[in-house]
Order: sequence, then C-alpha cells, then structure tokens
Amino acid sequence: MSEQSIPSTTGTGRIDRNLGMELVRATEAAALSAAPHMGRGDKVGGDRAAVEAMRAALATVRMSGFVVIGEGEKDQAPMLYNGEALGTGDPPHLDLAVDPVEGTRLLANGRPNAISVIAAAPRGSMWEPGTSFYMDKLVVGAAAREAIDIRASPAENLGRVAEALERPVEHLTVFVLDKPRHEELVVRIREAGARVALHGEGDVMGALLAATPGTGIDLLMGIGGTPEGVVAAAATKALGGGMEGVRAPQKKHERERLEAELTPDELHRVIGLDELVAGDDAFFAATAITDGVALEGVRYDGERGVTTESLVIRARSGSVRRIQGTHRLDPEHLFGGMGIQEVVDVVTG
Ligand code: FBP
Repeated sequence: MSEQSIPSTTGTGRIDRNLGMELVRATEAAALSAAPHMGRGDKVGGDRAAVEAMRAALATVRMSGFVVIGEGEKDQAPMLYNGEALGTGDPPHLDLAVDPVEGTRLLANGRPNAISVIAAAPRGSMWEPGTSFYMDKLVVGAAAREAIDIRASPAENLGRVAEALERPVEHLTVFVLDKPRHEELVVRIREAGARVALHGEGDVMGALLAATPGTGIDLLMGIGGTPEGVVAAAATKALGGGMEGVRAPQKKHERERLEAELTPDELHRVIGLDELVAGDDAFFAATAITDGVALEGVRYDGERGVTTESLVIRARSGSVRRIQGTHRLDPEHLFGGMGIQEVVDVVTG
C-alpha cells in the first residue's frame, strides 16, 4: 500500500478514472517484450517475455488487482496465475483477466492477430471458470445483442441477427476458429447461407471484431478457451455488444472433473454477458504484437524507435481509444535482450 491514500472510487463506489489508460502501458510492455520472439517458432519464449513484462508494468498501477483469469494453466505455459495480487495495493479493488499473448502460436509463426490483452472490473464482478478450460461462445455487436440465443441452431441465430442488422444472411460473416471440432458448425453456417472467416487462433480478437461495427465480422461462433471468454466478455460489454457462453469441456479429464463438480444443469447452463462480467465498470486494453485486421503490430523503425498500436475501451462511457505509441529504441539494449525494468522504463518514459 502506498503511503498516501488517494481516493480512486467515487462516493457511489464507481471507479473514477479510466484505468484502461494505465493498463495499456502493461499491454504495451508485454507486446514490446513479446515482439522480438515473432516468427521464431518458440511459443513459450514469447509468452514468458510478455508475462514478465506485464507483471512488472502492472506492479506500478495504483490498484489492488487480483488475477481472476490468468492465462497458461490450460497448456502449462508461463503464467500470471489465478489469485496473484498485482498493483500498488491501493484502491480500487479489481478483478483482472490477463492474457499477455493471446495467440501464442500466431506469434511463434509470425501470423496476424497476436495481441496482448488485459480486462479489469471491480472485485467480484468477473465470472470465475474454475476448472472449465473451454466454452462455446456466441458474440455479436450492439445492434444484434438482443437477438442471440446460444441454445438455438446456427441457422436460427443467423436469421435473427440478419433481421436485427437488416441484412440478408448471405451478407453476414462469422468468425470461427479453424479447429476439427468446428467442422459441423462450419457446414451448418454455410448451409444457412452465411460466410465463414476461419482463423487458426485468437478468438478474443474474433470477439472484438464481432462486437465492433464495420469490421467485416458480424458474429463469433464456436468453442475456445474460457479465460479468453471472460476477456472477450469484458471487451464485448465495453463495446455494448452481446455474448453468451456455455461450458464445453473438450478433453476427457476436463469433462470428468466438471461432471464430478457440477450438476448437469449447471454444466450446461447458459452464462450471459452480465454474469461473465457484471456491472458497467469494465475496462479493456489491447496492444497488437503482430499486424492484424484491427491493429498494426509492433514495428521497428530505425528513426522513430519502436511503434505500437493499442485499443482502450471503457464500458461506462463507451469510449474507444486507438493509441499509437512510439517507444525509444536504446541502441545498447535492443528489445530482444532488454531487461524487464528497461522495457517498463521505455513504456513509461
Ligand atoms: P493461446 O494464446 O493460449 O495459445 O490461445 C489461443 C487460442 O486460439 C484462443 O484464442 C482460444 O480461445 C484458444 O486458443 C483455443 O484453444 P485450443 O487451441 O486449445 O483449441
């Protein structure tokens, strides 16, 4: 706890500053640290560098953060672990959902859409998935948020979304992760008449695109990670979009554990956006590591230094900021060999 206590919530308990503007320093630090690993085929190295940079940057943020959604447990990656305390220890008390590299394989293979993301909301407001690693997700933008029902068929959802958007189903595009488990889903979307955009990884970006009007993606459908689901929910909520999820265990041990822990009704229950992230005080920050549809990745430019592009979204105000950063490139410490403190210095300096 810092010596001087500075109020950071209003009398109503609401967070009185745009925390996203501080969280984005941590996604920038993570992206800057991960970027030297792009295309080097090392999934773990890029993740580890980003985790360490994000942890160091978040330690400086005036907050009492509690990691509800850490990333990595699912594949034993280096992680910001669930329950980890981050920040200076001052109010506000926050739940954090962090993903220092969303799309570790995208980064390792130098493919588009690898991003670094953080979502924050008041303590107790984020859904804790426990031992659920995978969930089925359905995400749309604000205009169609009342139209979706994850229990209904893809054709039914597409019909309702088309009606809400006043467009034919043929003009809708659905982001789907390109995984064997989605073969039937893809067939059903195509049979319904819509177009499918298959992406190997990265359904947080898919949700972001689906929830943002004018990106060319109208829906996200299919099964992905639950941590990514909560991060995506914060972004969707901040953008005023709609989202539903259902636990969807993919591996035998995950299914058996959930069947032992939960009633069948609970296991198959629809988890709505207000349960995934309650209230309207959520913050979302993302920085691109590799180039993508929505953001330009980390670029090395001899004269300008290193550039980043980020998004900061605040649910309460609905503000969406696109932030371009230029970071000093110290010739003695190129980013590949840069220590974490040095990265944080560059980001703050
Ligand atoms: P990572 O960054 O942890 O590699 O996650 C990438 C991702 O594609 C997520 O966007 C998605 O939710 C999840 O993996 C799907 O998991 P899997 O690749 O095991 O199907």
